Parts: sequence; structure tokens; C-alpha cells
Amino acid sequence: MRDFAGKTAVITGAASGIGAALATKAGALGMNLVLADVAADDARALAGTIAGVGTLVVHCDVSDETSVKALADAAFDRFGTIDLLCNNAGIVPGGRHRLVWEYTPGDWQWSLGVNLYGVIHGLRAFVPRMIAQGSPSHILNTASVAGFVSGSGSACYGAAKHAMVRVTEALYAGLRQVEAPIGVTMLCPGLVRTQIYEAERLRPAALADHDRPVESADLDAMRDDLYRHALGPDEAAVIAFDAIEEDRFYAFTTEAFDTAIRARADSILARTNPSFASIVEMSRMESDGRARQ
Ligand SMILES: NC(=O)c1ccc[n+]([C@@H]2O[C@H](COP(=O)([O-])OP(=O)(O)OC[C@H]3O[C@@H](n4cnc5c(N)ncnc54)[C@H](O)[C@@H]3O)[C@@H](O)[C@H]2O)c1
Repeated sequence: MRDFAGKTAVITGAASGIGAALATKAGALGMNLVLADVAADDARALAGTIAGVGTLVVHCDVSDETSVKALADAAFDRFGTIDLLCNNAGIVPGGRHRLVWEYTPGDWQWSLGVNLYGVIHGLRAFVPRMIAQGSPSHILNTASVAGFVSGSGSACYGAAKHAMVRVTEALYAGLRQVEAPIGVTMLCPGLVRTQIYEAERLRPAALADHDRPVESADLDAMRDDLYRHALGPDEAAVIAFDAIEEDRFYAFTTEAFDTAIRARADSILARTNPSFASIVEMSRMESDGRARQ
């Protein structure tokens, strides 16, 4: 996709972080914007800062199929065609490090609901209509390096991201199979300075984890330290739009996790028992690498 001006982008999780940066970048390129978020007031405030293009703000919970269908109806009703769909909304359950058997059913339902089903609902609501349009368009799914590495840490988030990577690869292959003129980019960020670790404020009450231990000061300090040198969301948006423009599937924002991705693949192919690097260590490598730049 090379011409953006006058086209229309739908962005989920548009109120903050990478989604807000994608919206700002798309607006600067002259695209009309459909900004979707559970934090609709924040999305509305962002819309007020983007001048000169048509904007529609929709309160949408991507984990709810009906809500995403309503988003698609509102977007197509207002703008007629959708040229860029960004399935970007995501959350990380908060609290201390948990082992895979310690996450609650609410943690799983919330993480899979937003990070995996959010993408599935987005594809089901938009792709058939984007194919029917017949015009060239593009889909950006925000994955994570957590969708490629493994180990004991962040399993509830990582499992959802691994699954949505598989979904996004199937999307790419399926669209080629039916010869639809729709490009696909999978944004795979490492550390990006956003509100992702404050997502607990958005957890639905029905999925509350009443036993959730409060964050320890140590964990907070470690995160602050890791994220001090993290990529800005605006830089992540530039990487995403470069890949969209060049019709590239993979858009990684860092190489710091490559060794771990390769080691996992090598161990699968050699049938050797895995030895996973810790996600904190890999994040530290990314952070230290950026601090030296
Ligand atoms: N920040 C990072 O380090 C990082 C790294 C890898 C991947 N990612 C991915 O980037 C994407 C964007 O996250 P971010 O880092 O900008 O975080 P963020 O918290 O700053 O923004 C996420 C946005 O999603 C919205 N959201 C949450 N639940 C929602 C729901 N159910 N329906 C609709 N909107 C919802 C939030 O209100 C928020 O505006 C996510 O998919 C995340 O997994 C982030």
C-alpha cells in the first residue's frame, strides 16, 4: 500500500501507546481515521489533536464479537471502504511473575479475549467486506516478540501472542490463496514505552483476580529501568508504516530476541530439550543495546 492520503484506517487500541502513534502517523499521511478503544474518552481526546482528516471514535471492546461487528458497521457506514485495518489492542495481566499453572481463569479469559479473540473478531468482521471491496488494502496485526520466544515468564500473554502469530500467518497465506489484493504486516515489537503495564485498570470486573498480589516495588523498579531506554511508540509506528508501504510481512522493532528465536527453532529441529533464555534477560539486552546507541 503506497498511497495513504484520502484512504481510511481503522485502529483498535487507538487511545494509547502504539495505537495512538499509528493513528497520529496515519492522520499525518492524510488518512481518515476510525479510532476504536474501550477508553473512548482518551481516543476522543486524541482525535481532537489530529486535524484535517475525517475521524470517527467508536467505543469498542475487541474481546466482544458484537462490539467489533458494530465497529465494522459504523466504519463502513461512515467511510464506505476500509483501506487499512490495524488490529492493535492488547493487554498484559499485571502482578508479580506467575508460573503457568498459577494464572487464574480470569487472567486467561482476559488475555486470550483481547490479545487473540480481539484479532479473530477483527478479521471476521472486516476481511470479507474488504475482499468484497475489490480495491487494494492492508491489514496490520500487532503481535510481539513474545509470540516467538518461550519459557516460564509471561505465559498468559505469550500464549495469546503465539496463537495470534499463527492466525496472522494463516491470514497472509489465505489472502494469497484467494488472490485478494490485501497485504498483511505483522508488527512484532520488543520493548516500547507505552501504558501496557498499567492495563489492569481496564480489566473487566467479571474477570477480576481478587487474590492478585500487588506489584512489588522491585518489579516496578526493574520495569522502569528496562523501559527507560525503550523505543518510543512513534518510532514503532514509523517501522509499521515502512513495512506497510513496502508490503513486508514481518516488522520487528528489535533484533535483541533473535538469538532466542533461533535457539528455540534449532532445538525443535534437533529434537533436543529446550533451554529457554529468560524474557527479562532478553529485554535487558534490548534495553542495554539501545542505551549504548
Ligand atoms: N509496549 C510494548 O512493550 C509492547 C511490546 C510488544 C507488543 N506490544 C503490543 O502492542 C499493542 C499495543 O499496546 P501498547 O504497548 O501500545 O499498550 P497501551 O496500553 O499503551 O495501549 C493499548 C490500548 O489498547 C486498549 N485496549 C485494551 N483492552 C481493550 C479492549 N478490550 N478493546 C479495545 N481496546 C482495548 C487500551 O485502552 C489502550 O488504549 C498490544 O497488542 C501489545 O500487546 C506492546
